[in-house]
Amino acid sequence: MNRKLLRSVREYKRQTIQTPVLVALEVLMEVLIPLLMANIIDIGITQGNMGYIMRMGLLLIAMAVLALFFGAKAGQTAAIASAGYAKNLRHDIFYKVQDFSFGNIDHFSTSGLVTRLTTDITNVQMAYMFTIRLLARAPIMIILSLIMTMTISIPIALLLLITIPILGGILIWIAKKAHPHFVEVFDEYDILNNTVQENVNAARVVKAYVRGDYENKKFGKISKKIFELFTKAEKIVAWNAPIMQFTVYAVVLIMVLVGGKSIIRETMQTGELTSVIVYAIQILSSLMMVTFVFVQIMIAEASTDRISEVLDEVPEMVDSEDAIKDVPNGDIEFEHVDFSYSGEGGNLSLKDVNLHIKSGQIVGVIGGTGSAKSTLVQLIPRLYDVTKGCVKVGGIDVRKYNLKALRDQVSVVLQKNVLFTGSIYDNIRWGDENASDEEVQRVCRLAQADGFINEFPNKYDTMIVEGGNNVSGGQKQRLCIARALLKKPKILILDDSTSAVDTRTDALIRQAFREEIPDTTKIIIAQRISSVEDADMIIVMENGEINGIGTSEELLRTNAIYREVYESQVKGGAEDEQAG
Ligand SMILES: Nc1ncnc2c1ncn2[C@@H]1O[C@H](COP(=O)(O)OP(=O)(O)OP(=O)(O)O)[C@@H](O)[C@H]1O
Ligand SMILES: [Mg+2]
Repeated sequence: MNRKLLRSVREYKRQTIQTPVLVALEVLMEVLIPLLMANIIDIGITQGNMGYIMRMGLLLIAMAVLALFFGAKAGQTAAIASAGYAKNLRHDIFYKVQDFSFGNIDHFSTSGLVTRLTTDITNVQMAYMFTIRLLARAPIMIILSLIMTMTISIPIALLLLITIPILGGILIWIAKKAHPHFVEVFDEYDILNNTVQENVNAARVVKAYVRGDYENKKFGKISKKIFELFTKAEKIVAWNAPIMQFTVYAVVLIMVLVGGKSIIRETMQTGELTSVIVYAIQILSSLMMVTFVFVQIMIAEASTDRISEVLDEVPEMVDSEDAIKDVPNGDIEFEHVDFSYSGEGGNLSLKDVNLHIKSGQIVGVIGGTGSAKSTLVQLIPRLYDVTKGCVKVGGIDVRKYNLKALRDQVSVVLQKNVLFTGSIYDNIRWGDENASDEEVQRVCRLAQADGFINEFPNKYDTMIVEGGNNVSGGQKQRLCIARALLKKPKILILDDSTSAVDTRTDALIRQAFREEIPDTTKIIIAQRISSVEDADMIIVMENGEINGIGTSEELLRTNAIYREVYESQVKGGAEDEQAG
C-alpha cells in the first residue's frame, strides 16, 4: 500500500499493531484445539479414561473461549484502526482541498473529489482492515498448522506442501484476471457520480429543458455498464469457492486414504487423522482468505492512486513567514500583467494590462462576454496569480500579503456566487462571524436587501436552502453584496452582481455606496451602461486587453466599443421610452 497514505494512520498505530498480535494469539488457540481433540480421542476415548476426557475437555473449552476473546478483540482493534485511518485520510484530503487555490481546484472535478472522499476512502479502509487482520492470520496459520501436521504425518504434510502453491497460484491467477474489471468499475463509478451530481445540482435546468428522459438514458447507460463490468469481474471471482471446495475434498480424500492405511498399519491414530484433516481445512481456507485480501488490495490500489493525486497536489499559494498583514489603502495597480489559466506558455487570457486605480475611486468595467472582465478582477484578491508582471494593492505586490489579510480587505462578489444552507444571518456572517445583528442589518440596508428580508415571515432568520434557490436571482445578488460589505473592505469588487436587480434598486445601491463607504475603492463589472455611467473611471475590456479607459464622456468621444454599447442601450432605451 502507498507509504505516503499510511502516514494518516497516526494515533491508530496502536490498534494497528495490536490487531496482528491478537490474531496470532487467536490462531495459536485454533491450532492447539485440534491437537487436544486428537488426544481426547486417542488417549481418553481409546483407553476409556473419563477423568482425562474431562480435564482435556475443560482445557479445550478454555482455549475455545480464549480464541473467541482474541478473535473478537482483534476484530474490534482492526475496525477501530481502519475506521480511524479512514477518518484521518478524509480529514487530510478535506483540509488539503481547503488550501487549494482556484488554479488547484481547476485541476479536479467536484465529483472526482467527492468520489475520493467517499468510495475511494471506503476501499482503502476495507483493504486496510483485511490486511491487518487476515494477512497476519494466513501465514501464521499455515506455518503452525504445517508444523503440527508434520509432527503427525510427514507424507500428509508433503501433500499439503504441494497443494498450497498450486491452489494459491490458481486463486491469485483468478484474482489477477478479475482485477482490470474491478479497476474499470471504479473508473465508471467516477462517471456515474459525475452524472448524478451534475444532474441533481442542475435539476431545475434539466426540468426546464425537459431533458429528464435524456438524463435517464445517460444514467441508465452508465448504470448498465457498471452492472456488466461487475458481473464480468464477479463471474471470474465466483470460481474461487468451487475450486477451493474441490481442492479441500480432494485433499481430504487423499488424506483419508493415506491416513487410513497408516491407521491399519498402526502408525497413526484415529484422533491424529481427525486433527490433520482440520489442519488441512484451516490451511486451505487461509489461502482463500489471502486471495480475497489480494483482490481487496488491488481494488484499493486504484483508489490510493486517486487519493494521492489530491494529497500530492501542491497548493499554489502559500503564505511566507514575513507575509504582510496590513493593507494600507485601496490603491490598485496592474503593471504589464499577462495571465493564462494554464500557466506559463498557455493561451493568454490577459495581455499586457496596465492600470492604476486610486484608493476610493468608483471604477466601472465593461466589455463583451469572454473579454476577461472576471479574469481581470480575480487577480486583485489573488484568486489566481499573474503569469507575468505584477498586481499591487496599496502599493504592495499582492503576493507579499498574507492571503487572509488581503482577502479580508479585497471583498469580491463573484459572478458565480452561492449562498449556503442556513439563516440569512448565518449567510451574511460569512463576511465576519462576529458581526452583531445590527451590523448585519446595516449592510443589508446598504445593499438594498433590508426591504425584502423584512417581508419574509421570519425576517433575518429565514432559512436559505442549499445554493440559495429559495430566493429570487436579484435577492440572492443583494444578499451576496451585503455579505461582501460586512467585511468592511478597502476594495469592493462586484462582478456582474446587480445584473438581476432592477435599474432603480441598482441606482440606490450605488448611491448608498457613494454616501456610506466613500473611502472604499469600488469596481463594478456590468453589462448595463447605467450601472457604470457615473463611475470616476470606466475600463473597456476587449479580448483580454484594455481597449479604453476614461469617464463616460471621454469614452463616448474616443472609444468605438463604448459608444456602440452606449448607443444600443441608452439611445435605444430613450427611443423606446418615446415610442412607449
Ligand atoms: N477557470 C478557467 N479556466 C480556463 N479558462 C477560463 C477560466 N475562466 C475563464 N476562462 C477563459 O478566459 C477568458 C476570459 O473569461 P472571463 O470569465 O474573464 O470573461 P468575462 O469578460 O468575465 O465574461 P462574462 O461577461 O461572460 O462574464 C474566456 O476565454 C474564458 O473561456
Ligand atoms: Mg465574467
